[in-house]
Amino acid sequence: MGLRKATPKDIEKVVEIEKTSYTFPWTQPLFLRELDNPVSRFFVWDEKGMVVGYACYWLVEDEAYLANIALDPSWRGLGLGRMLLRESLEKLKREGVEEVVLEVRQGNKTALALYRSAGFRIVGKRPRHYEDGEDAWVMRLKFQEVGHDRAGDYRKAYGEP
Ligand SMILES: CC(C)(COP(=O)(O)OP(=O)(O)OC[C@H]1O[C@@H](n2cnc3c(N)ncnc32)[C@H](O)[C@@H]1OP(=O)(O)O)[C@@H](O)C(=O)NCCC(=O)NCCS
Repeated sequence: MGLRKATPKDIEKVVEIEKTSYTFPWTQPLFLRELDNPVSRFFVWDEKGMVVGYACYWLVEDEAYLANIALDPSWRGLGLGRMLLRESLEKLKREGVEEVVLEVRQGNKTALALYRSAGFRIVGKRPRHYEDGEDAWVMRLKFQEVGHDRAGDYRKAYGEP
């Protein structure tokens, strides 16, 4: 089935995936709120009727913020995270979004590799952004510039690994 909009029936599974994916997970009420949030675009990845991943964005004019994305651990490494990201970005693009911003833990090598290969570039750093004190990279994707590597200057300035 692939990408579709999240519905109230999906939330139980989404919360289950969330708990296995993050140290500080979003709660059920928070996900339920996103279903009715007018600025939210909340997608799930559906494999034969089973929710195996989700992505939630917030839209402000022509910019989107990727607030949350995760795949069920038993479905990771199969290319589904990439498909979920790519297809949800495609939907936003069709809606008129021009750029997408996100934050990612510096130690989250899997997510960093995924975002880079989707065309996101590091544009900043938020020191001690997370509850446990880890720094975040701020990444941005401009649909017009996909494929154009502008991260070189940033790497020089901040010594990105
Ligand atoms: C990040 C996440 C969504 C990726 O989903 P996934 O289905 O496992 O990823 P895919 O199989 O589509 O792989 C996409 C890319 O991620 C990277 N990747 C995947 N597994 C990896 C691993 N074990 N180690 C390093 N990189 C990895 C690779 O670049 C891969 O591309 P490639 O196969 O062309 O090399 C998933 O790992 C996840 O849910 N993590 C926990 C939640 C999280 O960290 N979310 C991001 C918060 S910012």
